[in-house]
Amino acid sequence: MTSKNTIMDSDCMTLTRFMLAEQRKAPIATGDLTQLLNSIQTAIKAVSSAVRKAGIANMYGIAGNTNIQGEEVKKLDILSNELFINMLTSSFTTCVLISEENQHAIEVETEKSGKYVVSFDPLDGSSNIDCLVSVGSIFGIYKKLEQSGNSTLQTALQPGRNLVAAGYALYGSATMIVLSIGQGVNGFTYDPAIGEFILTERDMRMPDRGNIYSINEGNESTWDSSIKEYIRSKKYPATGKPYSARYVGSMVADVHRTIKYGGIFLYPASKSNPNGKLRLLYECVPMAFIVKEAGGLATNGKINILDIVPENIHQRSPIFLGSKDDVNDVMTFIRNKAER
Ligand code: AHM
Ligand code: MG
Repeated sequence: MTSKNTIMDSDCMTLTRFMLAEQRKAPIATGDLTQLLNSIQTAIKAVSSAVRKAGIANMYGIAGNTNIQGEEVKKLDILSNELFINMLTSSFTTCVLISEENQHAIEVETEKSGKYVVSFDPLDGSSNIDCLVSVGSIFGIYKKLEQSGNSTLQTALQPGRNLVAAGYALYGSATMIVLSIGQGVNGFTYDPAIGEFILTERDMRMPDRGNIYSINEGNESTWDSSIKEYIRSKKYPATGKPYSARYVGSMVADVHRTIKYGGIFLYPASKSNPNGKLRLLYECVPMAFIVKEAGGLATNGKINILDIVPENIHQRSPIFLGSKDDVNDVMTFIRNKAER
């Protein structure tokens, strides 16, 4: 007699299995990228557990900021950074790491060094960490430049067009990894019962137009008039329904929604921040890569985010990212203003 208890998929596509299958498609692949992504996956599992306050007694004791051993508890963003750095350096696949939390690029010691450069924001959405709103991790992976004699800095300062892979983890109502290795975008949801990320969203594509805009509207007085006019055109359209406003304040959550539902996410320049707020190498560029692979577009208002040649590892950039038609709309407002 066969059992009717077939709720569990006994042949599910885990992230690890997906990467091994992708590796098989490229006969010259060494397996290093698979190994690297595995180390990122482990870091993300650990960050997810910490974000969800698992082992809470260990983290806080009964109350307060010391754990049961009386040790001062690490802040989540510091802990996440250490997890990423430790997992990446021990994967034997990386040579240079760029983290939002570290002032300088980290050079991996020669014995552990490999061919990949990784830029990452280990826990993005700092203002949301303490109030339990969704946060995320973002990463981009490049290859070390072939020419010998390149300094660590030159190796780190590559344009987004050179990316080999990029992804993010969203610690939301579930934990999800969204990954692109340059042939579309796939989403993997964490199943805590088996401790694996399972392919749940194959070949994610975003609509060419959405009906949501996402911007910190409290900053309106600091925007350029073209951005003010663009947002006004979405709130008071000549015909049709106005757009909805959605803004979590965590880039990963706002970008994930934009990929799923369409629309636009904007972090423009302001009077006090002429380059906007978001960081090019580990916030804007990986997200621009994923959005492009999902059929969308990301620009700084002048050129595609992926074409910017970085000058320093922590540089900022304005960003307009989302459905193609929506991003082209804002570009029209910016161009019209420049021609006036
Ligand atoms: P962080 O790196 O300090 O977390 O800042 C980045 C975050 C992004 O996740 C988000 O899109 C943006 O800051 C929100 O900024 P603001 O609070 O100015 O709207
Ligand atoms: Mg950040």
